[in-house]
Amino acid sequence: ARTFFVGGNWKMNGSLESTKQLTQTLTQAKLDSNVEVVVAPPALHLLTVKEQLAGSKVAVSAQNAYHKASGAFTGEVSVNMLKDASIPWVILGHSERRTLFGESDANVAEKTAAALAEGLSVILCIGETLEQREANETVNVVVRQLNAAADQVKDWSKIVVAYEPVWAIGTGKVATSEQAQEVHAAIRKWAADKLGKDTADQLRIIYGGSVAAKNCKELAQQPDIDGFLVGGASLKPEFVDIVNANN
Ligand code: 13P
Repeated sequence: ARTFFVGGNWKMNGSLESTKQLTQTLTQAKLDSNVEVVVAPPALHLLTVKEQLAGSKVAVSAQNAYHKASGAFTGEVSVNMLKDASIPWVILGHSERRTLFGESDANVAEKTAAALAEGLSVILCIGETLEQREANETVNVVVRQLNAAADQVKDWSKIVVAYEPVWAIGTGKVATSEQAQEVHAAIRKWAADKLGKDTADQLRIIYGGSVAAKNCKELAQQPDIDGFLVGGASLKPEFVDIVNANN
């Protein structure tokens, strides 16, 4: 069985003070012991948050990383630096990175391969825009994004795939559980065809896009939804209810 996975992507939010309160909420909360929980603070806060969460079941993740080990890449943090700092996870290919910062499928694949080579685990984000959905291109788009990664990555055991329809991110417009399940099933079928049935059975495919306490239970019941990547609601105590969606 696949361990349910809930990630909190804090994006570019929080101060040292608000972050401390958030980690306190998490360390004091009763979190379902059967769920893997990861939070992704901004790079500046990673080590502080890691320390504040030490001894809890919540792990930390970076929101992005660069694939070169070191050098003249002003403003970047490398996968090697994350490894050195014992940051176990990194989110790659988030739609905001792709759209606002121009990351291509090939860039994301290169970063994914580099992160895995350093022993990190990767939350690999994919998803279609509203225009692509309306043109019935959803499955083609996610398959294109996944194939780009598969060109450079053979071992998928340390990857969690996050399906995040761009039109559902930060909009309050959550995909219906049927819409999400349909794409998750297509992703698992892709994985079975491309990577083999065992890998497909073990691959966690999580949903992101306006996940909230009020919609998480229904989504969590879908057979191919193995957890969530939560943005806005991960900054609130509500995140605990999302972690506990199956209770
Ligand atoms: P929201 O939950 O705020 O829609 O963000 C989703 C997301 O982008 C998580 O990575």
